[in-house]
Amino acid sequence: MSDSSDSSNDSDSSDLKHNSFFLEHTHLSEQLRKYNHAYYNLDEPLVSDAEYDALYIALENLESQKPALRLPDSLTQTVNASDIFADVLHAQPMLSLNNLFTVDELYKFDKRCQDNLSDATDTLIEYAAELKFDGLALSLRYEQGHLVQAVTRGNGTMGENVTHNAKMISNIPILLTPLDTVQFPELLEIRGEALMTHADFIALNKKQASQQKKLFVNPRNAAAGSLRQLNANLSKQRPLNFYAYAIGEHSLHASLPKTHSDTLKLLQDYGLPVYQLPTVCHTALELHTFFEATLKNRDNLPFDIDGVVYKLNKYTQQVHLGNVSRAPRWAIAHKFPAQEMHTTLLAIDIQVGRTGVLTPVGRLSPVFVGGVTVTNATLHNQTEIQRKQLMIGDTVVVRRAGDVIPEITMAVKELRTHEYIPYHIPYICPACQSPAVADNDSVQIRCSNILNCPAQLKQGIAHFVQRRAMDIEGMGDKIIDTLVNLGWLSSIADIFDPAIINTIRLADLERFGEKRANNLLAAIETAKTRPFDKFLYGLGIRHVGESTARDLAKIFSNLKILEKITLEQLQTIPDIGEVVARSIVNYFSNPAIQQLLVRITSLGVIPTELIHNPVTIQTITTIQPLKQPLLNKSVVITGTLSSMTRDEAAEKLRLLGAKVSGSVSKNTDFLLAGEAAGSKLEKAQSLNVTVVDEDWLATMLHSM
Ligand code: IVH
Repeated sequence: MSDSSDSSNDSDSSDLKHNSFFLEHTHLSEQLRKYNHAYYNLDEPLVSDAEYDALYIALENLESQKPALRLPDSLTQTVNASDIFADVLHAQPMLSLNNLFTVDELYKFDKRCQDNLSDATDTLIEYAAELKFDGLALSLRYEQGHLVQAVTRGNGTMGENVTHNAKMISNIPILLTPLDTVQFPELLEIRGEALMTHADFIALNKKQASQQKKLFVNPRNAAAGSLRQLNANLSKQRPLNFYAYAIGEHSLHASLPKTHSDTLKLLQDYGLPVYQLPTVCHTALELHTFFEATLKNRDNLPFDIDGVVYKLNKYTQQVHLGNVSRAPRWAIAHKFPAQEMHTTLLAIDIQVGRTGVLTPVGRLSPVFVGGVTVTNATLHNQTEIQRKQLMIGDTVVVRRAGDVIPEITMAVKELRTHEYIPYHIPYICPACQSPAVADNDSVQIRCSNILNCPAQLKQGIAHFVQRRAMDIEGMGDKIIDTLVNLGWLSSIADIFDPAIINTIRLADLERFGEKRANNLLAAIETAKTRPFDKFLYGLGIRHVGESTARDLAKIFSNLKILEKITLEQLQTIPDIGEVVARSIVNYFSNPAIQQLLVRITSLGVIPTELIHNPVTIQTITTIQPLKQPLLNKSVVITGTLSSMTRDEAAEKLRLLGAKVSGSVSKNTDFLLAGEAAGSKLEKAQSLNVTVVDEDWLATMLHSM
């Protein structure tokens, strides 16, 4: 009894297993066919290459576990499902390449090649290592040196005739360059890749945008669209390049080189574009070195590559290994980590910046892309979300190229299971619940609670204490978070208030030992005399970056002077335009800021004045408001000055309201001439420009 029931259970479970294999196979095949159609026929891929590869490998694995599923019409046997444009039969099939992804797999590939060559006449292995172009394969047919046909890869057996468009590709020769020794071969088929460079891609998308046309997702899609244009003139407006990587059918006979790399040299001699000759390698280690070097250099190339290709270099060795159905055994692609992947947009969080800007951040289901795991990506602003038509729950394309910050490039709308409901950033600050307001001059929205929003306060303090500003080491984000949350810090001035700082017993704070507490207190003390420009930068005045802060600090030595400065006076400083000037004046005229600055000064924060200060605390009483005797006068400086450098003189002149320029013209009002003045002096004299000296400048400064 028990035996039979066991065996019936067994067969049940094996049926079930078989069934689940079958269902999985059907499911995978359906998915892959859908993706093939979108990729080959619509030029609109639904998934990244990496995902496609993963599904394809899963299908292959399934078939090797259950060979009965490997029917002649399986995708693993029929290459690709593109037949819509297939109208030319390739004289030799255009094979594809198997992929490998890890160093371990690379060593296995090398071992496999060695094993397979163990019974060959020539066992000394030689590889050609080259770039794997991320474009579209193209086969060019030259008869008697003339380009007669260009065909896309299509399904590998049949491709589409795109001769009219290939002739528009500027680096494809219509006629081969004749060689000295050999006549043109009767027949020479060139296999290579058509692609679009980054520069052409950016220019094309700019043009598409200006004409309110659909943008291309990446250069390869743009290249595919270009190659398939019915109108060759239109395809010319979407410029492509072509690079050869192999030959197909040919009649080279005895002049066929013995190796792949020598063949590519020959192609170069025929005037065919070969981007770079293969690197000849002998060991897996050398191949690996080539891979790493290429990966490093990837971003310096003018076009996309998605890996490298290793090929047995000697034709005898290639023939010895042969092909398996759709791909050669003697070559393999070593793929780079994908730069584009699909993942789910789980949520959109709103971050509050230092100046109150609300920035939407996409929270993603973790995805490995461009060599790192990505869990968030900025969505910039409402306009960007709308442009990409993003919706929470969407499958999205995440792109990370090189060191570039990961970006959500688009939603895969085809995979959406719900109707599109546009997402809107809430007009409310998530940190303090105050209303948010739209900026007049940008697409940003901001929390209106400038003074009391805890998120803005935390970011403001973090900005103030950073190394490039007050350099208060030990005051990291965590401690700021804690101190603000506990209510100890409600402004940057509090940092210096002994009543606060000593009573918060820094040492008692979680994981904050005695030593760290003392170091922090010492850093706070030192910060009180930071250079004035660092202090100014740390205040976080909108539009005042490090360089503007430096410019300001050089001319206006301290807060007292800056607080009195007018819009007009600020605008006389080079590089300070109206927007920046207005922002500075608004900042210092805000009564709450004035109170803050009075308090911070009374707590002993007296930033060090910069050395070359033309305006000091003592003179401020005499220059209220600043008189500018040289307002809008054009002054040129020449020769060697005795009491200051020309830069210092220029700074002083600007303070006096003058515009300092480099060359003398009829619009020049004064030439400030020092020792050994040359041609500028002559020119000024010929144009009747008033020539003045350093004493004149000193008098001017006194009169302010
Ligand atoms: S050789 C018999 N070399 O990769 C081998 N292919 O996945 C045929 N590709 O369809 C291909 N760069 O479009 C070869 N240096 C290169 C390549 C390359 C890019 C493309 C080609 C092919 C696909 C195979």
